[in-house]
Amino acid sequence: MRHIYSQLGDAYRVWAPGRDSHTWVFNHPDDVRRILITNWRNYTKGVGFDRIKMLLGNGIIVSEGEFWKRQRRMLQPTFHRRILARFDRVIAQANARLLERWESACDRGEPVNVTNDMSTMTLEVILRAIFGDDVDAMTAGGSNPFAVLTDESARDLRFAYEVRKLTTLLGKVIAARRAASSTSATPPTDDENPNYLSMLLSARDKDSGEMMTDREILDEVMTLIIAGHETTANALNWTWYLLGEHPQVEARLHAEIDAMPEELVASLQSMETLRYAYNVLREALRLYPPVWVISRRTIAPDTLAGYTVPADTDVFFSPWFVHRHPQFWSEPERFMPERFDDGDNRPKLAYVPFSAGPHHCIGETLSFFEMLVHLNRFARRFRLRRVDTRPVQLEAAINLRATEPFIMRLERRQAR
Ligand code: HEM
Repeated sequence: MRHIYSQLGDAYRVWAPGRDSHTWVFNHPDDVRRILITNWRNYTKGVGFDRIKMLLGNGIIVSEGEFWKRQRRMLQPTFHRRILARFDRVIAQANARLLERWESACDRGEPVNVTNDMSTMTLEVILRAIFGDDVDAMTAGGSNPFAVLTDESARDLRFAYEVRKLTTLLGKVIAARRAASSTSATPPTDDENPNYLSMLLSARDKDSGEMMTDREILDEVMTLIIAGHETTANALNWTWYLLGEHPQVEARLHAEIDAMPEELVASLQSMETLRYAYNVLREALRLYPPVWVISRRTIAPDTLAGYTVPADTDVFFSPWFVHRHPQFWSEPERFMPERFDDGDNRPKLAYVPFSAGPHHCIGETLSFFEMLVHLNRFARRFRLRRVDTRPVQLEAAINLRATEPFIMRLERRQAR
């Protein structure tokens, strides 16, 4: 795609022999706006989602039409800031556990596998956010059924098969919760300790009054695990890599974090005051958007960049290229978090790590909360430097990853 982009620019089509058709690619914010916002009803999710369907059944990421609309309506309130703010303890605990491991690795002078550790920490957060304390029962006896999500790096059919096996376990957990909630005399105390499973079990569509079936809940739970885990883990992984390569950015981040007293359980509100840290994360997501390509399929013909795209045609855009568009980003290859301070007068759709429009990522605020807590806790204590300084090779699979994990040395900034 880099090669074609350099030759043809931000609108082109390529022949996809496997599908015996053209795929059209548009990387200009105006076309992205038309696909995602102004003419979004003319698009279904497209070919990129076929593989994801195997993992997620008919969850909200892959579903379409009226069913998607209903599911989105039911899920949206569960991502309200008021609810996300109450995941503060879950996020703090997952980070505290990781911190303990990094402190002792640092004492022993051992490097850490940042890629694996980000994956483990973000998985713990999302599992606890979904299942609450049921996670303890699911992982009791030393076997962790979710380990495939952190230990298996290939994203092939075997991975899909292993992940799909989790549905048997999750099906049982959902059924047990349903039974417990229907026999329990006291209502669940969700207010103190929210979890997605309880929220989904009691969610009602405000239009029809319907509730979700166990099967629908299962698909949404799988969706939240897959959508919420690897994306956030990758974003943090790339952030640590970039900070290690840019000591001046790192120093500004340290200055901001050091100026704020540390809270053991950091609140959403206080994390949102870390403006430079937020810009560091946004800039990492600009350069290495975990969702690097987004696919759609036309229903009726559409006009994009002056071309008529036929009906039933695959259309892609790539946040990777949109985020490097030379018309909207100066020195696009440079890691420069300050660029978001410049009044940000570029078109909104020049920055789409979380997509935009009605299918906009539902988990954006949750992921920033999680990432800010993590940076605040760990950048306060450590500098991270890669052990292997060879150039990084990209792997553009479902998510954008590096081919090798980041193994990094910890340098202590602060006495314990
Ligand atoms: C840095 C972290 C994340 C990134 C970069 C990211 C990115 C994205 C993108 C690009 C989409 C749109 C896909 C499309 O339009 O085809 C999306 C959708 C979605 N994301 Fe995220 N995401 C992140 C974190 C999360 C988290 C933490 C959750 C939930 C716990 C989540 C749940 C979802 C869901 C449910 C959708 C589907 C929305 C819909 O179609 O209505 N994401 N995400």
